[in-house]
Amino acid sequence: MNKTWWKESVIYQIYPRSFNDSNGDGIGDINGITEKIPYLSELGIDVIWLSPVYKSPNDDNGYDISDYRNIMDEFGTMQDFDRMLAKAHEHGIKIMMDLVVNHSSDEHQWFQESRKSKDNPYRDYYIWKKTDNGEPPTNWGAAFGGSVWEFEEQTGEYYLHLFSKKQPDLNWENPVLRNEVYEMMRYWLDKGIDGFRMDVINFISKDTSYPQGEIREGHKYGNGSKHYMNGPRIHEFLQEMNKEALRDYDTITVGEMPGVTVEEGKLYTGEDRNELNMVFHFEHVGLGDGQYGKWDPRPWKLTELKEIFTKWQKGLENDGWNSLYWSNHDQPRAISRWGNGSDEYRVVSGKMLATCLHMMQGTPYIYQGEEIGMTNVNFNDINDYRDIETLNAYRDLTPDSLTHEEIFKGIHERSRDNARTPVQWDGSPNAGFTTGTPWINVNPNYEEINAEAVLKDEESIFHYYKKLIQLRKQNEVIVYGTFDLVMEEDEQIFAFTRTLGEDQLLVMCNFSGETPIFKLPETLSYSFKELLISNLNVNENESIDELTLKPYEARVYRLKK
Ligand code: NOJ
Repeated sequence: MNKTWWKESVIYQIYPRSFNDSNGDGIGDINGITEKIPYLSELGIDVIWLSPVYKSPNDDNGYDISDYRNIMDEFGTMQDFDRMLAKAHEHGIKIMMDLVVNHSSDEHQWFQESRKSKDNPYRDYYIWKKTDNGEPPTNWGAAFGGSVWEFEEQTGEYYLHLFSKKQPDLNWENPVLRNEVYEMMRYWLDKGIDGFRMDVINFISKDTSYPQGEIREGHKYGNGSKHYMNGPRIHEFLQEMNKEALRDYDTITVGEMPGVTVEEGKLYTGEDRNELNMVFHFEHVGLGDGQYGKWDPRPWKLTELKEIFTKWQKGLENDGWNSLYWSNHDQPRAISRWGNGSDEYRVVSGKMLATCLHMMQGTPYIYQGEEIGMTNVNFNDINDYRDIETLNAYRDLTPDSLTHEEIFKGIHERSRDNARTPVQWDGSPNAGFTTGTPWINVNPNYEEINAEAVLKDEESIFHYYKKLIQLRKQNEVIVYGTFDLVMEEDEQIFAFTRTLGEDQLLVMCNFSGETPIFKLPETLSYSFKELLISNLNVNENESIDELTLKPYEARVYRLKK
């Protein structure tokens, strides 16, 4: 396996709107990020993934871009951006930008032109279709509700939007559009940025015969996903992008890919395929989805979670590379989703989750606030939510498909706004995020859970993350060792080994609030063991042949033959 810096890195995601507001308008901004670079440097991360900062009317908080080469007014100026980039680089931190090119905003000049007439030079930058029966070209439902097709009176045709109608899909069949995208990527790389996280990049190649989607029970629209996920020309497009925009630079790339399988993942990330470094798959974050997806969640089992991770760990172990994440700006908070947010177990379960993730093979991602132990928010009024996905689901699903109570259970567990409440910097009003009125309310638990508090406390979750990051720098086995699951059938313990030559680690994580027994498999023999890290105090001489784990306990041992 080739050794590279992006395999050895830890990435920190910033969702700028909710990170830190420097000018009191209630919206996080670029100068706010620059202020906190020393904080990130203290944590020890290597790369920032910056969610979109481009000009945008914010129908979907910047994932609807109206100008790819300029900065959103609320976030600052290009000078602010350049200063932030320089300061990050001074601290040895790289910047990975979000690249949103499955769609643009309908307010992008390309779309403004495109919609004007059928012979406009920009017409084919987007996907326009005509029908004779007064029906949209397909029955596909859009991610944020309604049909994926929007009719335009002016030219009598429909345009495709897999997300909101203010996010028209770009037409990747058009080589002129593709070149515009590559040129824009080079513009940012020439500025000195270090790579791209690519938004729903496995959606860019559509089945151009546009077949109907299957309609599942209880749903009005068809599911078109198999006609645009990992589509017919996707590998060709990514290889072209690599050749035209990436290969002359030393970059890090990660493709966000709903519906990607391990087999596809190998093709996207294989060392000699010249596509991407890694992908974000969605298999674990979809666990427990109900009939209406995330809005009526069901319980999930640890064996299911372990099966998913093991499949990806083993699938990419010789060729390709994994990205590792519990949370991001589209997911609930890690502790609330996978651990335990109660006063008693919040910190210990957060540390356990961090241990489990950072000890697997792949590049770990920390979502802002995860390092201080932030949790989901329980707003009880729909008017306190800001996310288009949450608001549209509430509008479309209640009361016919789900009751108010049912969907609120889903919203509290899974809404994207759980991750979007402002980062809690200290115990002052609005958690020190802004001196103004925040665009979304802060989580009321900020007086207890905040960065100032965790920085002061050597035993805190922040210092634990810091230690995990340092261990990664000191132990090649954490980066490159092979992964093997142990105690496969156990519903409480997630345990595995990592092996690199003679070096072996044993990782034990208790995902439950109970006290299960860890049993060392007979195949694992050792003559000497050393405790590398643990989230509770451990007697180092204790035998590990059979031991009782405390609730949410995590330990990592180095074993020597
Ligand atoms: C995935 C992004 O992460 C999400 O926030 C966004 O709404 C959709 N793609 C559409 O861009």
